[in-house]
Amino acid sequence: MNIVDIINKKRKKISLTKEEIEYVITNYVSKNITDYQMSALLMAITINGMSDEETIYLTDAMLNSGDKIDLSSISGIKLDKHSTGGVGDKTTLILAPIVAATDLNMAKMSGRGLGFTGGTIDKLEAIPGLKTSMSLNEFKKQVNDIHVAIASGSKNLVPADKKMYALRDVTATVESIPLIASSIMSKKLASGADILVIDVKVGNGALMKTEEDATKLSNLMLKIGKNYNKKVVCILTNMFEPLGEAIGNSLEVEESINVLKGKGPKDITKLVIYLAIQMVKLGKNISLDEATKEVRNVLVTGKALNKFYELIKYQQGNINDMVISNKVVSIKANKSGFITKINTEGIGELSRKLGAGRYEKDDVIDPSVGIKILKKIGDFVISDEELVKVYLGEKDININEILDCFEIDEHYHKPSPLIIGTIE
Ligand code: URA
Repeated sequence: MNIVDIINKKRKKISLTKEEIEYVITNYVSKNITDYQMSALLMAITINGMSDEETIYLTDAMLNSGDKIDLSSISGIKLDKHSTGGVGDKTTLILAPIVAATDLNMAKMSGRGLGFTGGTIDKLEAIPGLKTSMSLNEFKKQVNDIHVAIASGSKNLVPADKKMYALRDVTATVESIPLIASSIMSKKLASGADILVIDVKVGNGALMKTEEDATKLSNLMLKIGKNYNKKVVCILTNMFEPLGEAIGNSLEVEESINVLKGKGPKDITKLVIYLAIQMVKLGKNISLDEATKEVRNVLVTGKALNKFYELIKYQQGNINDMVISNKVVSIKANKSGFITKINTEGIGELSRKLGAGRYEKDDVIDPSVGIKILKKIGDFVISDEELVKVYLGEKDININEILDCFEIDEHYHKPSPLIIGTIE
């Protein structure tokens, strides 16, 4: 077998065998296949696609490239949640304590920001002192003690994905449905949870720009899950505008606490409650009504908020030391009308420029900076009314670029639904 023949086969749209896919992954991880050869293959896959069988072989080969986490020493059902990524998506920070407050186990391995989208680990690390790197034993002990832990995955968890993702990021091969499905599912299968809920974002701030593609990706991930006897549920949700108001690490932690206090923006509150109900229903095998009652109860009694503080304390964070920039600039609307469109990816890019995200793997994030979106699609604004607040750090951005991300029109435009559908 050799890599040039395999690239050639995929270039000619011929399906690869299980053995060929295993050969590629094993030899790429052991550095016998170079980045330029892998780039060529990834591009051929992005252009010509993969059959479902090939995608399952790829997931399996990636899964077998490193450690598989055994969570069996944690008593009870273990739940995990994944988001395909968006702008202002702080869902995990709120959802994990809610689900844990109902006494279900949230064993969550999370990642850092990617491109214009933020990552849960960067958000949590906005809390000074908070430790996200821990041994597997520490992780399991924490879940056993308080029902929730959020940690960055171990270095050897799907090393094939770590290498491939970094390469895809710089070779325009991120947006391939089989590559996304195998990347997500290999990591989630290696993380060892029993039930997996995946928030598949759809819109101009997401990898999946259309409902059709999001549905294809969801069906593929469900098929992969079934192959491993894993319960997987995909929920398609709106990313045609940032989620909530806050974008930027400290700002998103602050907003998460506000949601847990019942004082958060409507959209993120509604989405988190919806996801929490689905997870509690699946995790406890109870009816939707019973799950709804449990979720409402932990929110109203403050149990979920206390669980978040408990998680922060256990992971050695000090929330009182968290810093939000006080260099705040207001951006005002330049005309009156309804907000009809927001360039979500553009807003994500601007927050990255401010220092909330990275361009290079080793860039240092400024957790104090970010953007607050005060008006959303469907809202009416009056000329000169405040539209956005920018929390500046060391880096300057061209303020006018933010205004360019908003379309304001005299006609009302109905926003897309927040929850588009559930695929089980
Ligand atoms: N998230 C992942 O983990 N992998 C992808 O390929 C895309 C989004």
